[in-house]
Amino acid sequence: MILKRALILFTLAWLAVPFAQAADPIVIKFSHVVAPNTPKGKAADYFKNLVEERTGGRVKVEVYPNSQLYKDREEMEALQLGAVQMLAPSLSKFGPLGVRSFELFDLPYIFPNKETLYRVMDGDIGKQLFGMLESKGIKGLAFWDNGFKQMSANRPLRKVGDFQGLKMRIQSSKVLDAQMKALGALPQVMAFSEVYTALQQGVVDGTENPVSNLYTQKMHEVQKHLTISDHGYLGYAVIVNKKFWDDLPADLRPVVEKAMADATRYEREIAQKENDDALEAVRKAGKTEIYVLPLEGRLEWHKVLLPVHKQFEDVIGKDLIQGVYGIAAEVEKERLAATVKPRDKAKAKAKAKPAKAQ
Ligand code: LMR
Repeated sequence: MILKRALILFTLAWLAVPFAQAADPIVIKFSHVVAPNTPKGKAADYFKNLVEERTGGRVKVEVYPNSQLYKDREEMEALQLGAVQMLAPSLSKFGPLGVRSFELFDLPYIFPNKETLYRVMDGDIGKQLFGMLESKGIKGLAFWDNGFKQMSANRPLRKVGDFQGLKMRIQSSKVLDAQMKALGALPQVMAFSEVYTALQQGVVDGTENPVSNLYTQKMHEVQKHLTISDHGYLGYAVIVNKKFWDDLPADLRPVVEKAMADATRYEREIAQKENDDALEAVRKAGKTEIYVLPLEGRLEWHKVLLPVHKQFEDVIGKDLIQGVYGIAAEVEKERLAATVKPRDKAKAKAKAKPAKAQ
């Protein structure tokens, strides 16, 4: 009898081993709308590899690119319902959630350079914005970059007057709506996955995006003109379902967090090059005439677009807009200080010293 019990226990012990080893992995479904060979697509795959390797397979990341699972608006709802756990929507797509302050990033010509942008994302403004998501059941993990947007259409876009009456596809942002109206265009909100067909069929005449998005969706094949205008910015917030995040085992959360920090560094490193390469590829494809907006053109666009900042002060928050201006000024001051030649510094110092009494 004792022997029989021992045998059963022995057998159970063996059976228990594969059971313990085969515990189901935690699955993070990461849905996004762009192609895998874009800055966001590559970073999502990079994050997947880091997480799976570092957790020894205890966390599995399933990446669904190209709106395979959900389109723009649907994916936000899916995240809140827990049908997917992670997204990286562009910062222009948070308005419909009721957090309009994210449209700060859409204000035309607000970031004079990437240094200003990163300081905004990684500083108090970025924290404040992520704080606004918590009550929506969402946690913000990181800001990813794509780059400055360029305008495209089937007619050359050089002067402000060239936009008159053009139907321009925009993301779901009221700032972008105002931007296109200020230029004299007719803005039309549309999901990213529908833009290529809409351009092809003439439902819209033009669009704006960083070149990496234009090229990987083949939009250049249906756009005869591209203007390198850098008039606005497009970046992402990587977000998770808050309940899912809070319920992650305490030993795994820091590992996933570190993988996200590493993926973010990687993403920001490749963003510019991906866009430069895409521009080169558009040039080589030979279907689109590329026009680099010269300084006088930029000044004309700037003059027409800048009033949009003031128009949205109440919606976005005057403090946030002023905060960006302050950071931009700080960056510019540092840049100027760094470009003063050591000889000039010595001269300035000597000038500042009171002359010795003879
Ligand atoms: C767009 O809709 O144009 C972009 O937000 C797509 C993206 O995610 O880069």
